Amino acid sequence: MKSTKPILLFFSAVFALSSCNNKINTKLTTTGTSLKDAFNGDFYIGTALDVNQIEEKDPKVTQFISKEFNAITAENIMKSMFVHPQKDKFDFKTTDKYVAFGKKHNMFIHGHTLIWHSQLPKWFSEIKDSVEMNAAFENHITTIVKKYKGLINSWDVVNEAVNDDGSLRKSVFLKTLGEDFIAKAFQLAAAADPKVDLYYNDYSMTNPAKREGVIRMVKKIQEKGVKIDGIGMQGHWHLDRPTIQEIEKSILAYSSLGVKVAITELDVSVLPSPFGLQGAEVSQRFENNEKMNPYPKSLPDSMQVKLAQRYEDIFKLFLEHKDKISRVTFWGVNDTQSWLNDFPIRGRTDYPLLFDANLQPKKAYYQVLSLKQKNK
Ligand code: XIL
Repeated sequence: MKSTKPILLFFSAVFALSSCNNKINTKLTTTGTSLKDAFNGDFYIGTALDVNQIEEKDPKVTQFISKEFNAITAENIMKSMFVHPQKDKFDFKTTDKYVAFGKKHNMFIHGHTLIWHSQLPKWFSEIKDSVEMNAAFENHITTIVKKYKGLINSWDVVNEAVNDDGSLRKSVFLKTLGEDFIAKAFQLAAAADPKVDLYYNDYSMTNPAKREGVIRMVKKIQEKGVKIDGIGMQGHWHLDRPTIQEIEKSILAYSSLGVKVAITELDVSVLPSPFGLQGAEVSQRFENNEKMNPYPKSLPDSMQVKLAQRYEDIFKLFLEHKDKISRVTFWGVNDTQSWLNDFPIRGRTDYPLLFDANLQPKKAYYQVLSLKQKNK
């Protein structure tokens, strides 16, 4: 019979650490294991980096990131408004640093994102003519993918091209190039770096109508003989939705297309949604008030328990389908970095990640890790 000692030791370490939560410094948050080590061999564990993190402004934070995570996504700096600010000018200063960060820390480096209707520079969003768009589109994808050929491991080639009802979003790309722009983007990326993994990425990927739309779109790409390697489910989720069953259904449906599935932007909001809003349409904003911002100072224990249970349920499902899942990336390192403090309402305090403002692991962190201990 296997000894139960290591398990007991693990839990007493967890208890000791969680009961003196805020007093310990970053170094002591180590439990002897980390997210990346615990899930090693299952899937990559990633995080999204902001500029300060990429530029390694705080060595303690860098050390923390490299200890917990083995995959990175740039939260903003690789988007077209930053990397391609003018039609004839690319700016690779920070993206070079981002790629160097990943190399230095031996991480899986993800590129986010080539073609997206949002955070587009003005010059790109104002193109009306299809010939002009075609040339700009081709130059954008080819230049960026070639520049990082062999350095970046996977790309979000197209981000958020499908509406909630499954139809295609009327973006500037659809308007000027027609629906072929999607397959064309994948074709150009594959030509620029034949070995890099190419993903379609979107939010609300568990919504049945949207799921059907994404599947239709991916099948069209495949029928053209164009390479697509994966589907990214962003994973901007809530405490009570989507259900685990809906998430599972989607992982299975996407995977049955013969592509990898990645969870690319995971966070779990604990705050109320305006009008039951779902999804992550970045242009949507609502007014702040006390009712919508119930935990401005700290998250009550009862809510930490709910968040921990939700994360446990989510990761339990991911482990059941680890053969289909390539990567699970959190949208940020800790709660204070989270975009959810400003979306869809500005100036709130949300608690959607596994680490708090002081980089201390929350109950949810230990509960996620405990899944691996139980499996042993
Ligand atoms: C968000 C960033 O986190 C914010 O800092 C920025 O202001 C807006 O974009 N879907 C995506 C991500 O694909 O790029 C978005 O990131 C969140 C929704």
